[in-house]
Amino acid sequence: MKEIHLTEIDSTQNYAKNLILNNEKNVVVVADIQTSGRGRNGHTWTSPHGGLWFSFDVNFHSDFPTLVIGIAAMEVLKEEYNCELKIKWPNDLILDGKKVGGILCEKVNDEVIAGIGINTNVKNIELNTATSFFNKTNKVVDNIELMKKIINKCNEFSSYSKEKIITIFRSNMAYIGEKCFISSLQSEAKILDVTNDGKLVVETGEGIKEINSGEINVCI
Ligand code: BTN
Repeated sequence: MKEIHLTEIDSTQNYAKNLILNNEKNVVVVADIQTSGRGRNGHTWTSPHGGLWFSFDVNFHSDFPTLVIGIAAMEVLKEEYNCELKIKWPNDLILDGKKVGGILCEKVNDEVIAGIGINTNVKNIELNTATSFFNKTNKVVDNIELMKKIINKCNEFSSYSKEKIITIFRSNMAYIGEKCFISSLQSEAKILDVTNDGKLVVETGEGIKEINSGEINVCI
């Protein structure tokens, strides 16, 4: 995989998308700083110096690449930091109840572009909802080495069966049994499970529902 390392860019995701539109495949784009980082559902993604911000075209087939990439990143980070990391459906990385990373998968033509953002060596970020690995562990990591490990783990996990992926996901899922606000339902619901095809299962006042897209916002 070709590696493009940029000091500063609007968004590695936009850069990777343009590469695909120009038929350049098998490339990973990583930047030290993003000035217009994008998150899921139109959110902005703050990307200061110290964090790991990268995008690549997914060259494996999976019915749910988002979940595969999420658990791959989680496994690598758990090993690296020796910490209790959880995954909030579909792919937020949660450390001690706060977000430390997220994944954005987008389709361009027939290709999936995965954008991964991790607050690794980011200093002075301690919000109600977000933190960094540095803040929690004081450890500084080599972002590029970490990125390579995550891409390798994605490739390794891509050969796993659907069942195995869901089993790993389920056993690391955050907020099970807790009441959360589900934005796509515009109401609170209790997080129950994930289905064998990757949907979120919640219990609402009107019974059990399966959710395909949407966010889990705040847990109470
Ligand atoms: C989310 O949790 O909402 C997903 C965040 C994804 C952020 C990454 S950082 C690298 C890539 N470039 C972007 O502009 N976004 C993704």
